[in-house]
Amino acid sequence: MTQYAHIVGWGKYVPERVLTNDDLSQMVNTSDEWIHSRTGIRERRIASEQETTATMSVAAAQEALRVADVDPANLDLIIVGTITPEYLFPSTACLVQDALGARRAAAFDLSAGCSGFVYALGMASHALTSGAYQLALVIGAETLSRIVDWTDRRTCVLFGDGAGAVVLQANKHPGGILSSVLGADGSGGELLMLPGGGSRLPPTLDSVTNGMHYLHMDGRRVYRFASKIMVRATRQALEKAGLSPQDLSLLIPHQANQRIIDSAARGLKLEDSQVFVNLDRYGNTSSASVPLALCEAVESRRVERDDTLVLVGFGAGLTWAAVTVRWSVPLPVAAPPRWRVAVRWARYRWSAVRRRALNFLWWLLERLLFLRPEDKD
Ligand code: UT7
Repeated sequence: MTQYAHIVGWGKYVPERVLTNDDLSQMVNTSDEWIHSRTGIRERRIASEQETTATMSVAAAQEALRVADVDPANLDLIIVGTITPEYLFPSTACLVQDALGARRAAAFDLSAGCSGFVYALGMASHALTSGAYQLALVIGAETLSRIVDWTDRRTCVLFGDGAGAVVLQANKHPGGILSSVLGADGSGGELLMLPGGGSRLPPTLDSVTNGMHYLHMDGRRVYRFASKIMVRATRQALEKAGLSPQDLSLLIPHQANQRIIDSAARGLKLEDSQVFVNLDRYGNTSSASVPLALCEAVESRRVERDDTLVLVGFGAGLTWAAVTVRWSVPLPVAAPPRWRVAVRWARYRWSAVRRRALNFLWWLLERLLFLRPEDKD
């Protein structure tokens, strides 16, 4: 039986701390006028010490699961698109899986720069339409403030932190994700990269002193690539779904630069009202930017049932991705019954302490029964 992948839940999380352009002008040689006229950004959110890519992912995911009224124990798959994972390993997706108590779910991170979330959405929709899975959680989350060089005005004014998530559900009704286009051109890898910290350049005193653990970008060349690829990927995704730009209700583009978004809108002959922008308040949040924008578009009623959306991203790799969506969820979303909210709350509380409780139990058993560590296996 043919299955379709529908977005049935969405959620976002942004840190409370706001960093304005004026704040930045106290830190580096820049101004609100330069940043706003060149990028469209007014302010961005910065994670506190307690906030990380995993904590923000979990908060966005809990919201998406609440909207979808889905129990995390029923999830089959969790993908986190990120370039600022909690650790090199284990994956942030595994940490999210544990925190949600989604014990049945396969979990992995996907690194495709700022295209990460749209890439992950495309892959998850294939996993559902193939019949392999029924429920997937797709997250885009970043703590870019931790890899930005706060003395480099060319990059530090651009980026911000946050997370967004969607729940995808397999369903026999036509609609949901209609098509996806995923692309890469590795020859542009050096245009946007974090050189240090991997196997090529492990952390050393020299690598840290030379700023190799900061994000490096050739802004002008990425700009040229972005302006072309947004139009091309959007057209390809629409064509694959048997549609054209005239059929588009709303374009939800990666929020990197207002000028790039405007040039894509011109290329596709779209009105301003057909393009969603929230870049002014969050800056470029990489993998988080498209799901954050999607959530705000839905919350502000810019998306209605049966609307045709294209979610499009580009970024490090170089990569690009576009997904066509027929929005199929009735709005507004009905509140779930209280008992279900309570069960979910209890599950999250238990998941938060489960690992520590089990470790303590093993510690106790080892002492009581004189078990050797290998007996655990
Ligand atoms: O998310 C995926 C990846 N990232 C992107 O999509 C970013 C794509 N690129 C861009 O958005 C733009 O290239 C930037 C916003 C990064 C830069 O804008 P631009 O119009 O391309 O500026 P530019 O790099 O050509 O720099 C123009 C001038 C330079 O001065 P000179 O050399 O002309 O004297 C820069 O040094 O602006 C200077 N400049 C600044 N001045 C004040 C660069 N950054 C700043 C700053 N404040 N923050």
